Amino acid sequence: MEGLKYAVGDRTIVAEGAKLIPIYVMGKRYEVPETLTIMKALEYVGYRFIRGCGCRAGACGACVTVYRTSGDYRLKFGLACQTVIEPNMYLVQIPFVPANKAIYDINQLSPDIFTFEKLYPETFRCLACNTCTKACPMDIPVMDCIQSLIQGDIKKCAELSHPCIMCGMCSLRCPAEIQHPFVTLLARRLYGKYLTPKAKHLEKRIEQIKKGMFDWMLDELMEISLEDLKERYTEREFEPEPYDPDWHPKDRRYLIIEED
Ligand code: FES
Repeated sequence: MEGLKYAVGDRTIVAEGAKLIPIYVMGKRYEVPETLTIMKALEYVGYRFIRGCGCRAGACGACVTVYRTSGDYRLKFGLACQTVIEPNMYLVQIPFVPANKAIYDINQLSPDIFTFEKLYPETFRCLACNTCTKACPMDIPVMDCIQSLIQGDIKKCAELSHPCIMCGMCSLRCPAEIQHPFVTLLARRLYGKYLTPKAKHLEKRIEQIKKGMFDWMLDELMEISLEDLKERYTEREFEPEPYDPDWHPKDRRYLIIEED
């Protein structure tokens, strides 16, 4: 492609004339084009990811990286796939954070503080130092999650921790050795299982599925050619954005009209 070149080891496309800036990976100096993410900069200098890279989209937590920037004493945390490099950044990726996940049957648990006392007793060692929050690359108020739990508010813990990608940096930094990703995961599970109001329309839909009301649609899809299937997919109708309660698809053959 005119004006572009492909970096070695990745499909990273570097704009012609991009300025090179120094970064330090595990203490070794490299010059890399500015504007790259940490992940792409690593690939640019020859690293090949076997682990420590998953979604490349800020969702899996595999690429968490610790770094310092020039003239700043503070330790910083970011996702390699999302964080853009800065000149004189000193960085290292953290390959894995060990943690013990409690084994439980969610159906046998009760949504209260005693469950956490039993499965993750270290939760109650929280010193409220907020180091966990500072380490979170997702900007989750991790300490507030834990403190909410200690006060018995599972709902608040579940809601605050919703963006957690389980990278484990909070746990690695915690002086009380709390295993926040698994503790907050349990809160979200308990909240989903026991505390969220049940969706009545979902129960009805499951009943309809069990009764076979959608089988003819699946049969129809199984019968058509691959080409027709692709065409249907690309020409499917979308619901409008923002949501319009009066919107209905033009083709109403597939609407299951409410019974009863
Ligand atoms: S690779 Fe998944 S969060 Fe970075």
